[in-house]
Amino acid sequence: MRVSALSPSNSAGGLTILLLLLDFIAPAATVKHENFKTCSQSGFCRRNRAFADHALAPESNWVSPYEIKENTLLLQNGILTAEILKTVPGRTEKVVLPLNINFQKNGAVRVTIDELKRTKGDIVLRGESKARKERYNEAERWALVPGWDVRDDKVVYDNQKGQITLTFGPELKYKAIITVYPFNVKFERDGETHVVLNDRGLMNVEHWRAQPPEPEEGKEKSPEDLDGGWDETFGGNTDTKPRGPEAVAMDISFPGYEYVFGIPSHATSLSLKTTRGGEGAYEEPYRLFNADVFEYIVDSPMTLYGSIPFMQAHRKGSSVGVLWLNAAETWVDVVKEKKTKTDTKTHWVSEAGQLDVWVFLGPNPSTLYKTYGELTGFTKMPPTFAIAYHQCRWNYVSEDDVRDVDRKLDKHNIPYDVIWLDIEYSDNKRYFLFDKLAFKHPESMMKNIEKTERKVVLINDPHIKNTNDYHVVEELKSKDLAVKDKSSEIYEGWCWPGSSHWIDTFNPAAIEWWKSLFQLDKFKGTAKNTFFWNDMNEPSVFNGPETTMPKDNLHFGNWEHRDVHNVYGMTFMNATHQALEARDIGKGKTQRSFVLTRAFFAGAQRIGAMWTGDNEAKWEHLQAALPMLLSQGIAGFPFSGADVGGFFGNPSNELLTRWYQSGIWYPFFRAHAHIDSKRREPYVAGDPYTGIIRDAIRLRYTLLPAWYTAFHRASKDGMPIIRPNFVVHPDDEEGFAIDDQTYIGDTGLLVKPVVAEGVDKVDFYLADDEVYYDYWTHKIYQGKGRKDYSAPLDTIPILMRGGHIIPRRDRHRRSSGLMKHDPFTLVLVLNKRGHAMGFFYHDDGESFDYKQGAYINRQFMYNGSLKTLTSRDLHKDRAAGAAYKKVAKALQVEKIVIVGASNSLDITALAKGKSKAKALLVEEDDGKIKEWEASLSYTAAADKDHADILVIKNTKLKIGNDWTVYLEQVGGEKDTPKDEL
Ligand SMILES: *[C@@H]1O[C@H](CO)[C@@H](O)[C@H](O)[C@H]1NC(C)=O
Ligand SMILES: *[C@@H]1O[C@H](CO)[C@@H](O)[C@H](O)[C@H]1NC(C)=O
Repeated sequence: MRVSALSPSNSAGGLTILLLLLDFIAPAATVKHENFKTCSQSGFCRRNRAFADHALAPESNWVSPYEIKENTLLLQNGILTAEILKTVPGRTEKVVLPLNINFQKNGAVRVTIDELKRTKGDIVLRGESKARKERYNEAERWALVPGWDVRDDKVVYDNQKGQITLTFGPELKYKAIITVYPFNVKFERDGETHVVLNDRGLMNVEHWRAQPPEPEEGKEKSPEDLDGGWDETFGGNTDTKPRGPEAVAMDISFPGYEYVFGIPSHATSLSLKTTRGGEGAYEEPYRLFNADVFEYIVDSPMTLYGSIPFMQAHRKGSSVGVLWLNAAETWVDVVKEKKTKTDTKTHWVSEAGQLDVWVFLGPNPSTLYKTYGELTGFTKMPPTFAIAYHQCRWNYVSEDDVRDVDRKLDKHNIPYDVIWLDIEYSDNKRYFLFDKLAFKHPESMMKNIEKTERKVVLINDPHIKNTNDYHVVEELKSKDLAVKDKSSEIYEGWCWPGSSHWIDTFNPAAIEWWKSLFQLDKFKGTAKNTFFWNDMNEPSVFNGPETTMPKDNLHFGNWEHRDVHNVYGMTFMNATHQALEARDIGKGKTQRSFVLTRAFFAGAQRIGAMWTGDNEAKWEHLQAALPMLLSQGIAGFPFSGADVGGFFGNPSNELLTRWYQSGIWYPFFRAHAHIDSKRREPYVAGDPYTGIIRDAIRLRYTLLPAWYTAFHRASKDGMPIIRPNFVVHPDDEEGFAIDDQTYIGDTGLLVKPVVAEGVDKVDFYLADDEVYYDYWTHKIYQGKGRKDYSAPLDTIPILMRGGHIIPRRDRHRRSSGLMKHDPFTLVLVLNKRGHAMGFFYHDDGESFDYKQGAYINRQFMYNGSLKTLTSRDLHKDRAAGAAYKKVAKALQVEKIVIVGASNSLDITALAKGKSKAKALLVEEDDGKIKEWEASLSYTAAADKDHADILVIKNTKLKIGNDWTVYLEQVGGEKDTPKDEL
């Protein structure tokens, strides 16, 4: 679909435009592999793999040539500095590499290695380039939260003959042990080594050197003449590399860890595979280089649209992690070595920039995610509509089309919150202008959508059409805010509009200008219910190398595109996000932004949502989505989704239905389709499919309070929203690699989507001995191991783990906005011992008032011995919360459902229908204690394999208040259950 091998000289005439269009209309069957490099086609990757092969060959007797110059060591204010000297064969002068180890109060450690000569600008650029001479050192400006640097001032230093020990971290539990020669660093916790840098001696900082002259006939090449280190051509594009070879590499070992996770985005299993060949292994390293890899293949380490260089290593009793903070193209090799235990050994290689690696010592998944989040930020709290259902297609082609889809969804009682407009809304791909024929009255379209509290999302990309008579490109040029080519002229390339320029969002002036373009009076036709989608921001350039920008392009501050490639998309997304929050929507109000991005880097979780790009309407793509989204959660960016239905191609009705049943569990839930695909809105297929899809979407809406609560938790401590088995059961070794089922937040909901054709059952894996109940029939599943679950087409496989409380809203409405006054249902799922616990977070779902305390945050506790349900306030500032409680006064709990009631209560009398039992409700409302009774309805278990259900109806409890429900008069004779949860 995207042309990538067009030579720039082709790109002038009308013929090219025609060819481009034809090519878009006839998408290729699968990813064009030859458009993307393998490691051996990328000079620095090839060199560093060869370096590793040489170093690891037994006969090479390899000793890493890096050594700390001991008299330069200095520990000051939680930072250890020193010089590392690199010995270069045939050179007497050593290369000086400044080392900086930064110890953070929360126990995280940063190891940065730079190169003195480049830092001083003491190098000669090849050719005419005006590029900066230093190694790129600004990735932290984008990836890390402002104010991240909270130093550990209690680090203890000890130097024993070439071995330096630094004791640090909370309660001085961690140690960094540095060997002076050959340089390496071991990180210990509880007397065990967890992470080792340069363990195998694969560290490699390619120092600056002038390009050696061509060797004379019959003479050998100079050892300084690195393979692929100079001009490099791929697919007809030549990269001029003004600074020559400059890769940085390091190996990182995790002794005793068999499992590693993270480094999204790849269409691969959650547990990362090994990459050096052999059975079940990849031949290629995992690649991180944001690229428009449409119709990607699944089960591959190939790069995709976004990159987060964060990896977690996990074993029973411990989780640790590393962040490789480098924005340039990066490759990661993974091998596992089995001795008595299995060690995982990784090898990281980046094309340019500083060597900058962060180490996190856990000790468990939740502390790891928290520490990582304190550094790169936590998930932004989205507006409520953003976590509801999104209806998208390339394209809803006109106002009439939009009205028609809106009406039909209503007619079929299918809730939705957002309708999306892809590139065809624009006036000939001139974003910020509506197509004048198809969208004559965008204001009234927005108003009409607003009537049901719905929103419109418009696409808006970083390429700006290079054409006359377009105010946006005129301003871009006149204000000098575009990305430059290697000659410092405005860069021109091809994308949807044909010839285009790209906004340079590294430039603060470009961000300010971008912000101005989104004001409602500037972008005519938009309204406060208009939000945005940033696509093609890898950036995608149809005629560029690997469908992106030349690496020798220049950005603000003369950084090369090579240096910043993987963060570009995030800076663009951030500019859009800031623009939305700067819009004047009247009455001095500010609303939360919503921006969807395709390209991303560590830190993008602070801005909006991502999706996995252009997948296909195939079962293997449905299957690939869940592991990919679980991986996003591990890497701190959980607000993620995959196109429901599959972007390219036409799903069968069965695939579409199964995809909806799966998609309702994606934190970001959007259906999307290619322009050539047949219409497939949920009402198109007809029954039974339409009805089944409606029920699935309604389930998403019913559970929105639970989802919102899970987002809130992610925004506070980085816990993933959807959680794989190993996160919930970190000591269950059998379950570490499981990635085809997921838990939803803290709800205890365990789902296993059907992702194969013609299948009518799934097998859940239960990691523990707790009781689980079918969500629909309350059938009991118990005992560690695999459990068959019947799942014909109309059944979504869901279990509820005993011990949890799930908040729901059971009334069906057209949109989440229309549910805002609806009462809640609490589902108490009792564990074996009769207890349950759960959480509930709520705020207005649109403004920032929650930052001033306008929210409700409760913990519900059902104590099976006392037979009481209590609601406890978790609000940090009760006084501030009180004001919001008044606003939210009308919000009630309408009913309480107790699943497995007999785990706590003696229900014999009830079962016989003899009891007149009632629940006693006691609430504190505005300082007054109120008491009343509510009636119960009881449904006995159908048989011993099913749970019984007790429902307390019409409770009239206010969800924001403190209250207790007493059920003691129900039972009596039952043995007192054990007291732990
Ligand atoms: C977004 O931009 C703001 C303002 O420049 C900056 O403070 C913030 O760190 C940026 N966030 C990300 C994730 O880039
Ligand atoms: C239930 O209440 C009893 C009595 O107050 C207490 O000892 C016990 O710890 C509670 N159990 C749970 C799970 O909260």
